Amino acid sequence: MSNTTRILAAVLLLLWGCTSQNTNKSLQLSSPDQKLNVDFYLTSKGAPGYLISYHNKIVIDSSALGFVLNKADVLTKGFHIVNSSITKVDTTWEQPWGEEHFIRDNHTELKIELEELNGFKRKLNIIFRAFDYGVGFRYEFPEQKNLTNFEIKDELTEFNMTANNEAWWIPAYKGNRDEFIFKKNPINELPYVLTPLTIETKDSLYVSIHEAALVDFSSMAIEAKGNNKLKCELFPWKNGVRTYVKAPMVSPWRTIQIADKPGDLITSYLILNLNEPNKIGDVSWVKPGKYVGVWWEMHLGLGSWNQGPKHAANTKNTKHYIDFAAKHKFSGVLVEGWNWGWDGNWMNGGEAFNFTKAYPDYDIEELTKYAKEKGVYIIGHHETGAAIENYENQLEEAYQFLEDNGMKGVKTGYVGDSLNNGEWHFGQYMVRHQQKVMEMAAKHHIMLTAHETIKDTGLRRTYPNFIAREDARGQEYNAWSSDGGNPPSHVTILPFTRLLSGPMDYTPGVFDLTLPTQKNQINGTLAKELALYVIIYTPNQMACDLPENYEGHPAFKFIEDVATDWETTKVLEASIGNYITTARQQRGTDNWFVGAITNEQPRQTSIKLDFLPEGKTFIATLYKDSPKTNYLTNPTAYEIESKEVNSTSVLNLVMVGSGGVAISIIEKK
Ligand code: NOJ
Ligand code: CA
Repeated sequence: MSNTTRILAAVLLLLWGCTSQNTNKSLQLSSPDQKLNVDFYLTSKGAPGYLISYHNKIVIDSSALGFVLNKADVLTKGFHIVNSSITKVDTTWEQPWGEEHFIRDNHTELKIELEELNGFKRKLNIIFRAFDYGVGFRYEFPEQKNLTNFEIKDELTEFNMTANNEAWWIPAYKGNRDEFIFKKNPINELPYVLTPLTIETKDSLYVSIHEAALVDFSSMAIEAKGNNKLKCELFPWKNGVRTYVKAPMVSPWRTIQIADKPGDLITSYLILNLNEPNKIGDVSWVKPGKYVGVWWEMHLGLGSWNQGPKHAANTKNTKHYIDFAAKHKFSGVLVEGWNWGWDGNWMNGGEAFNFTKAYPDYDIEELTKYAKEKGVYIIGHHETGAAIENYENQLEEAYQFLEDNGMKGVKTGYVGDSLNNGEWHFGQYMVRHQQKVMEMAAKHHIMLTAHETIKDTGLRRTYPNFIAREDARGQEYNAWSSDGGNPPSHVTILPFTRLLSGPMDYTPGVFDLTLPTQKNQINGTLAKELALYVIIYTPNQMACDLPENYEGHPAFKFIEDVATDWETTKVLEASIGNYITTARQQRGTDNWFVGAITNEQPRQTSIKLDFLPEGKTFIATLYKDSPKTNYLTNPTAYEIESKEVNSTSVLNLVMVGSGGVAISIIEKK
């Protein structure tokens, strides 16, 4: 591993010795560039709190920390500081695959050891990490006599702001999990909302609240308490307990990304930096790629998952997709509806799903052989219908079956309002389930993509086989959603909200945008669909349309060419909900790909290609809206233009409403 790790310094300072005083104590931590500051304090009642300032502006005002426990006293006050230490780290680590090859982790850390002065004298540690572009902090419950197995009734962590700033949000505690259209409102008007919660402050800063390394804990939603106060809301189990803890244990990191420009939220990598390094050893078998699938035809109602005349996952149809994938050098073919269990009402009750038994018209042995001969692999599909127990009972056999049949990837799904008819998708129950599945997949060398699962918190660093999740409104809504599908602005908000948590299986690439069989059509142009391959990061991009809609179509060349593994990523310009232009360098080459998209407003802009290496010549091919393109009346019209460019070139980009431009910039040899 060509890792350029440098640990610069270890423990710098012991700020506090043993003390018996507990009132009004405070400790400071500055980021490496000294521009971001965290103030930790104990109130006169010994209650912990913190405040964050960035470039001399308060971003998070005085905010409480601590917990209410179930069968004991509160862990919120009566503390004194027993010890504290500051350490400094400057490391660069390598991603086996990703949107950035090498990531610098440059931070300072303050560890505060608290203990109750009286009573049980329980201990609670709080660890802050300050980066130049944000903060992570977590709680640690150290091993101790008087706090072993316990229940958290409430986490009191606050993220208080100095003004009624506006946020892009989707609701928590709704049956549809996290598949919603984002809205923008002042924080004091928000219902319970999910994270990442991205906020634009009155000081023109962009702040995103989320979490990192969510392991064996409930996930965090946000409650707006009024008066600019935001509070952690842990998803409960159905019995009301928020999280079961067995000390020693740590909470996930609570993360606060801070940026001057929205695009800097995307390239900050704070969440990945707060996750543990790879725990599963050699991951050379995890390979980015592209895939097609027996999928869109079901969402269009042309095929069915269940048995019957329209059953799409049959041997002949699957061979057709394998042939197409092989011809166009795609690595995978997803097949949904291949297994028993789809014939009844499977949503919210997938007890009938069998993960090792194919339907009779799906000859798995033949297809395994056929795919192998053609140099592609089948991506298995495990829809659970939210019946977790049924899935877990078959887990070992299910993953052995994938491995035995050459399926290097699997897509899982948890359609249903609640799990096992009662648990939230975002509680500790699901976090534990997803951990088991991720580990089982790693054991069998299976790349995992999960839909309707717990949100991403950067765990791909630790488990690089967990390559992507859906966890937002994806392309599927454009096929059948009764509200007309995703609005033009949807994909101009996702990069600054959902995508901050990790790669998304959005499944772009519809060419037949008018969807003749549906009430809906896609609310965007063909060039915009292409640009999404660069804008929305995932290591395994789908080309979701039917093969016949691609054949003979010149714009398909962009999907064939576009890379899915990157050396580096640059957001050239962005305005949340309005537009974004992203450039990414293909890993291991000097080639670049650019995607630009706009909301319903037309847009003209120019981009400098000064990211290209000097002295080399490239062919830039622009796939763009034509003067005749109109996303409502003529979305499929596009033009292709090729020209020689170099690092001094400037490209003018013209987009119609809900349009886009996709550009490949390939070195001229
Ligand atoms: C919802 C998923 O998002 C979609 O991709 C899948 O086809 C269906 N569930 C069926 O599993
Ligand atoms: Ca879904």
